[in-house]
Amino acid sequence: MAAEARKAVTTASLRRMKAAGERIAVLTAYDASFTQRLEEAGVEVILVGDSLGMVIQGRESTLGVHMEDMIYHAACVARAGRYALRVVDMPFMSYASTAQGLANAARLMAEGGAHMVKLEGGEVVLDTVAALAARGIPVCAHLGLTPQSVNQLGGYRVQGREAADAERLQADALALQEAGASMLVLECVPAALAGAVSRSLEIPVIGIGAGPDCDGQVLVLYDMLGITPGRRPVFSRDFLREAGDIPAALRAYVEAVKSGAFPAAEHSFS
Ligand code: KIV
Repeated sequence: MAAEARKAVTTASLRRMKAAGERIAVLTAYDASFTQRLEEAGVEVILVGDSLGMVIQGRESTLGVHMEDMIYHAACVARAGRYALRVVDMPFMSYASTAQGLANAARLMAEGGAHMVKLEGGEVVLDTVAALAARGIPVCAHLGLTPQSVNQLGGYRVQGREAADAERLQADALALQEAGASMLVLECVPAALAGAVSRSLEIPVIGIGAGPDCDGQVLVLYDMLGITPGRRPVFSRDFLREAGDIPAALRAYVEAVKSGAFPAAEHSFS
């Protein structure tokens, strides 16, 4: 599509994509150069994830990431961004109370150029989600494996395999939508559960390790380029090795998400 004809992605256009059955391609980015490449490849949503704590800062978890880090990287992305909707993670404990959540989300929007903020959790964040949404701050919720709770979860494990956990996740997803969330990320949950949640909600559901039946997919950029140190998560795919160069890898990812070729069964959990 000619650059002039391309329209910026909005929460409304994402809902229309869901309604039309068009899958949404999401990737993380933390800087200006990759942001431009992601947009050229047709990525609709860029997530400035607190995964930057691990892939940029070399931490063992996301828990040490600060508001200043998120604002810095969000602003780098915002300077280059033209079309993609920019979602920025609220770091660990930056929304421990609703008042804190409001103040920090405002900074991510005003100083970081975020279009939407993302926070983790179910029932415990409902009031904060409602307060943000009521003040015009779009919210992406995050359920399933919520990395900020890794110590409570006992590791990076698939969530929602037990019937009671699956029921709670479904109830939380609906409650978050009712509280005003505009989007939901589901991380590392069985494919059948993620499909059921996606079909039951009006808002777009973006999966990572959540099977093919979500409304869109997200991966950590460095995982899908095969440059994250250590073992590649099983739900990811090394698009750079297959495609040969970064622009081709990004285009291949977008195409694979759109066609439903990614994620395959080997990237999903039962
Ligand atoms: O921080 C991040 O990159 C994320 C994705 C893994 C969804 O939250």
